[in-house]
Amino acid sequence: MQKITIAVDGYSSCGKSTTAKRVASKLGYSYIDTGAMYRSVTLYFLEHHITLTNDKEVEKALENIDIEFRRNPNDGRNETFLNGLNVEDEIRKLYIADKVSEVSSIAAVRHAMVAQQRRMGKKKGVVMDGRDIGTVVFPDAELKIFMTADPVIRATRRQIELAEKGEMVDLEDILENLKKRDLIDTTRKESPLRKADDAIEVDTSYITFDEQVDAVCLLVDEAVSKA
Ligand code: DC
Repeated sequence: MQKITIAVDGYSSCGKSTTAKRVASKLGYSYIDTGAMYRSVTLYFLEHHITLTNDKEVEKALENIDIEFRRNPNDGRNETFLNGLNVEDEIRKLYIADKVSEVSSIAAVRHAMVAQQRRMGKKKGVVMDGRDIGTVVFPDAELKIFMTADPVIRATRRQIELAEKGEMVDLEDILENLKKRDLIDTTRKESPLRKADDAIEVDTSYITFDEQVDAVCLLVDEAVSKA
């Protein structure tokens, strides 16, 4: 079957990455979590005390950042490595989420990440999730999905995810973090989060995970038949 490029964009905690991951594994496509890349840059900047307003410092730091995804042979999980170290769990923590929108609004950071994402997704047969995949990274993607969900439902899902990893956080704090990130993500100057004109909106508020996956797989079949 012909392979296509699938862009999955949308707000934080709408189920983008879990859905994208499952769809990729069902189709035998590769999966690229671009949020993990911005989170890894954030972790590096925090660890190295980079001044975000200092362009030179930021550029220099970006030269020293190497991000890759490796599949864990035990559970098949895609894990993020920053300069050879597994940072998959660290980058999901709230202190990273608190800073990541600020870091990802820096033009030099976006340029470096977009260039790498284009290289990673050069071959078809990829599901890439993020905020600007359908608008900036792969504007020619054969299928573009834009995921949305009610903010309280998103915050609740996030709370459960964090609790499963042992991080207990108040719903109010998560909701506040999501709203702050939505605002920065949608209003930043550099490639703000927006639905591409030809993207298909999938609202995940009241559908199950399996229903989300099925809905996207149906859209993939349609897109493949038109490609
Ligand atoms: O998908 P996520 O929550 O892991 O993404 C983390 C942050 O990275 C999010 O607040 C916005 C930013 N991001 C971005 O600006 N562009 C992308 N393509 C992916 C993520």
